[in-house]
Amino acid sequence: MSAVETRTMRLVLLGPPGAGKGTQAKVLEERFGVRQISTGDILRANVAQGTALGAQAKAFMESGKLVTDDIIIAMMENELAGKDSFLLDGFPRTVAQAQALGTLLERLHLPLTGVLLFDADRDTLFKRLTGRWTNARTGRSYHAEFNPPKVAGIDDVDGGPLVQRPDDTAEVVAKRLDTYERETAPLIAYYGSHATFSRIDALAPIATVSAAVNRAVAQSGTVLP
Ligand code: AP5
Repeated sequence: MSAVETRTMRLVLLGPPGAGKGTQAKVLEERFGVRQISTGDILRANVAQGTALGAQAKAFMESGKLVTDDIIIAMMENELAGKDSFLLDGFPRTVAQAQALGTLLERLHLPLTGVLLFDADRDTLFKRLTGRWTNARTGRSYHAEFNPPKVAGIDDVDGGPLVQRPDDTAEVVAKRLDTYERETAPLIAYYGSHATFSRIDALAPIATVSAAVNRAVAQSGTVLP
C-alpha cells in the first residue's frame, strides 16, 4: 500500500452499523497512509485467536450489545500508545468512552483533528449489513449488490476469502441498530458543537461519500478544545 499523500490526522469516524465507516477508513488509509484502528476488527481478531479479551467480548458481540466500557477503554489506551495519527472506527461508542478518549488525548497533547458523522436511515443500514461480505483478516468489506468483488467470495485486493460476519444476521443487526440509537447516538450531541464536526450523507454511492470525506478532511485541522 503506498499513500498518495501523508498527513497527520486524528479522526473519529462516527455512525451507525453499516453506515460505511470501515469502507471509508480503508479509502483514507490508502490515500493518506494513516492507520485505521477498528475496535470491531481488534475484538474479532481476539475472538478468532481465543484470547482472554476475545472470551470476554464474544457473547456481547454475538448478541448485538456493546462490550463493556472498562474493557474497551483499557484496550484503546494500549492501541493508541505511541501513535500521533489515527482513524478511529467504532470508538468511542458511549459518552463514557468519549470522555476517556478526551482525557487520554489531552494527556498526550494530541487533540482530535476531526469527527465525521456518517448519516443513513435504518432500512438502508439493514440491507447493507445483511448483504455484506468481509475479509476476516483485513476487515475490508464488500456488498453482494452495492459493492460486489470482481470474483464472488474473493477479496479484489489480496485474494483472501470473503465471509459473512456472524453478527450480520437479520436478528442481530436489528439489535445492533437499537444499541446504536440508545448508547452511541448521544455522541452526536457530545461532539456536534465542536468546530471539527462534519455530517456526511452516507446514503450516496461510495465514491461520492469518499469525496465528501475528503472535503471534510481538507477543511479540518482545527483542533478540539
Ligand atoms: P464493529 O465491527 O465496529 O461494527 P459496526 O459499528 O456495527 O460497524 P460495521 O463494521 O458493521 O459497519 P461500517 O459502518 O464499518 O460499515 P461498512 O463500511 O462495513 O463492531 C462490532 C461489535 O463489536 C459491536 O456490535 C460491539 O459488540 C463490539 N464493539 C466494537 N467497538 C466497540 C466499542 N467501542 N465499544 C463497545 N463495543 C464495541 O459497510 C457496510 C456494508 O455497506 C458493506 O457491505 C459495504 O460494502 C456497503 N457500503 C458501504 N458504503 C456504502 C455506500 N456508500 N453505498 C452502498 N453500499 C455501501
